[in-house]
Amino acid sequence: MNKADRYALLLKQVRSLVEGESDPVANLANAASAIHEAFGFWWTGFYLVRDNQLVLGPFQGPVACTRIPFGKGVCGTAWARGGTVVVPDVEEFPGHIACSSASRSEIVVPLMRGDEVLGVLDIDSRELATFDDVDAEGLAPIAALLVDLL
Ligand code: SME
Repeated sequence: MNKADRYALLLKQVRSLVEGESDPVANLANAASAIHEAFGFWWTGFYLVRDNQLVLGPFQGPVACTRIPFGKGVCGTAWARGGTVVVPDVEEFPGHIACSSASRSEIVVPLMRGDEVLGVLDIDSRELATFDDVDAEGLAPIAALLVDLL
């Protein structure tokens, strides 16, 4: 199965996981796990906008930084841009916040309601250049689905 097909399957899985559950923490927790397990990522999780900062939410993987300011790191940049950021090599990204030194590449997808960013989905890989447009396109409908549940 190619990567796009795997994301299509993952979208269906996440949809069925959140169906009938209204609690945002429960849904984000299961979504983080489903995404993480589907691809064997290093770190998969959510940061949610609270008091004008990104605050750590449900995740899978090693412990992580709890707060990220607007415009800082990859997560804060995706928030400021209101768009997905793909980083093939974290060492080449100015201001990258290294929660784990094992992380080599990263994708951050903002959770948008209209123009407002409610949080971000952040995924880290231990390999370089793990993420590309296929990941961005595959994760976009998953993020949109989750926004409706926040
Ligand atoms: N690397 C992120 C910080 C979060 S951790 O990867 C979990 C960043 O630069 O925003």
